[in-house]
Amino acid sequence: MARKVAVITGGNSGIGYGIAQRLLDDPPYPHLTIVLACRNLQRADEARASLLAAHAAELLERDDDQATTKPDVDVQVLQLDTSRPASVLAAARDIRRRFATLDYLFCNAGILPASSIAYLRAAYYLFSAPHYFITSSVALNQVRGQLTPEGLGLVFSTNAFGHYLLIRTLEPYLFNRPADHGGEGDGTRIIWTSSNTSAHIGSMGAFRPDDYQHIEGPNPYESSKMIGDTVSTCLNQRYADKPVRSFITEPGTVASNIYAEIGNWLLSLIIVLVNYAFRLAGVAEMTITPYNGGLAPYYVAVESETELDPGTRYLSRCTRWGTPYVAELPVAADDDIGPGIMRQLDALVTKFSATESGKEEVAT
Ligand SMILES: NC(=O)c1ccc[n+]([C@@H]2O[C@H](COP(=O)([O-])OP(=O)(O)OC[C@H]3O[C@@H](n4cnc5c(N)ncnc54)[C@H](OP(=O)(O)O)[C@@H]3O)[C@@H](O)[C@H]2O)c1
Repeated sequence: MARKVAVITGGNSGIGYGIAQRLLDDPPYPHLTIVLACRNLQRADEARASLLAAHAAELLERDDDQATTKPDVDVQVLQLDTSRPASVLAAARDIRRRFATLDYLFCNAGILPASSIAYLRAAYYLFSAPHYFITSSVALNQVRGQLTPEGLGLVFSTNAFGHYLLIRTLEPYLFNRPADHGGEGDGTRIIWTSSNTSAHIGSMGAFRPDDYQHIEGPNPYESSKMIGDTVSTCLNQRYADKPVRSFITEPGTVASNIYAEIGNWLLSLIIVLVNYAFRLAGVAEMTITPYNGGLAPYYVAVESETELDPGTRYLSRCTRWGTPYVAELPVAADDDIGPGIMRQLDALVTKFSATESGKEEVAT
């Protein structure tokens, strides 16, 4: 039986780590390689060691029957900085060299650079629109104007464009799956970790056609997530006759490192306590742990293809008592802006692929 391969960008912490834990605990295939694609190899190695140690302990706890059929799962690491095109192109080469094809690509790595809490705004929304307050980033002042050394918007490049460049660069490889790799209907599933904040773009005016990388504006995070959603929808149209499908998932609100820059342990503790309070009050988005947050992306990986619909958004949610479940919403695509965004991104793909002086093949 073929060995399946799951690449998780940003798999060393938070929701990416939670997805890896779930894949290890209950893999969709008996032979699976999980690849933590991370910008920092030391953190990736530490995450790999901790995942394997936890998994070994879990196997010891299982009864003898299960132990005799224990799955053959290994964990590898791969260098990938999604914000840097050269790193993305190198990672694509590495993936092609190591594996016959990819079965799952979790586009998960992401940043939300915030400089401070917007206390007045936070207080206003806490009392006037508490659900919006707790499920959006309205309480944060995001950093504006951050650029990569290549001159790309940092949040745009990290969260959205780097993943798009990786997918485009891998196209010829993904389209030509080995015939003996899995059964009929099997293909690559691209699984995005989106955010419910992208649903708030109307009210926050996040996406700006004249500043599509959102370098000047106050909401680069929401804009990048909206671009990821748009890319997913447009790729499904473009890949209609290819063995690749793209899915949008949401993790809910997770107490991860993503907010680490804004404060100290006390502030982090307060944020977690507030999240628990909202969960007890019935706000299902409060998944809080990375393992809970990883449920919807994991579900999209393990569910049979006939049960999945790329036109559905899969959401990790939690009961007030902490039991996670998957909810569904229709994907809300804006057909007016999709083609324009794809043109801009494709122009960047061409530009950065060309700088590799013919090392990469990008299908046109
Ligand atoms: N936490 C939430 O409530 C929430 C809600 C909705 C959506 N999300 C999304 O969930 C995803 C994961 O975030 P998280 O909450 O789990 O935060 P996290 O714990 O900070 O994890 C983010 C991961 O992305 C990696 N990363 C950041 N920049 C990268 C780059 N340039 N190249 C490669 N990897 C990079 C980080 O690596 P380092 O360890 O090296 O920094 C880390 O592994 C993000 O896309 C985020 O937008 C989170």
